[in-house]
Amino acid sequence: MTATPTLIITGASRGIGRSIALLAIQNFGANVIGVARSQDALQQLSHYIENDLKLKDRFKFVVGDVTVESTATEALTLATKSWSGELNGLVLNAGVLDPVGPVSGTSVEDWKRNFDINFFSIVTIVQYALPALRAAKGRVILVSSGAAIYAYHGWGAYST
Ligand SMILES: NC(=O)c1ccc[n+]([C@@H]2O[C@H](COP(=O)([O-])OP(=O)(O)OC[C@H]3O[C@@H](n4cnc5c(N)ncnc54)[C@H](OP(=O)(O)O)[C@@H]3O)[C@@H](O)[C@H]2O)c1
Repeated sequence: MTATPTLIITGASRGIGRSIALLAIQNFGANVIGVARSQDALQQLSHYIENDLKLKDRFKFVVGDVTVESTATEALTLATKSWSGELNGLVLNAGVLDPVGPVSGTSVEDWKRNFDINFFSIVTIVQYALPALRAAKGRVILVSSGAAIYAYHGWGAYST
């Protein structure tokens, strides 16, 4: 990987994704494009990186839902128009737990929404990103969960 890799990180507005973005920038010299729906949280993160950490022009963001195809294309366009123009990695971290409950008490629509966010959004962005990733010999990092290998009552949608 190059000395200053460009990464797209989904779910960067809070939690694990926000921490990955900060670690990538501070510890690995990365340039990061964060993706999430919460504009205020992404703006605050950007402000924190620029003004508190004094790391200028290292973080950009796309406000959008990962289940919407244009969110992926917008993030990729921004990546290839910024910094070196290379895309060195995707960190696909955005995810949701819901619906939680027994099969009998949860709706198929809610299961589909879970799969759209946790699974199909990943297929979409990887398909769009493959040419740029291949050109840069980039990587894809998928964030999974212990719930993928251990059973938790009512977590069927998330665990699958
Ligand atoms: N926390 C844990 O103990 C744990 C353990 C194992 C695995 N994980 C996995 O690690 C990842 C992050 O977990 P977390 O605990 O940090 O979760 P979190 O605090 O709930 O954050 C989830 C992130 O995903 C984003 N997101 C959710 N739905 C989205 C959508 N439709 N479009 C765009 N962004 C979306 C959220 O941003 P917006 O709401 O701003 O869109 C947020 O930035 C998840 O994939 C989770 O399954 C978590």
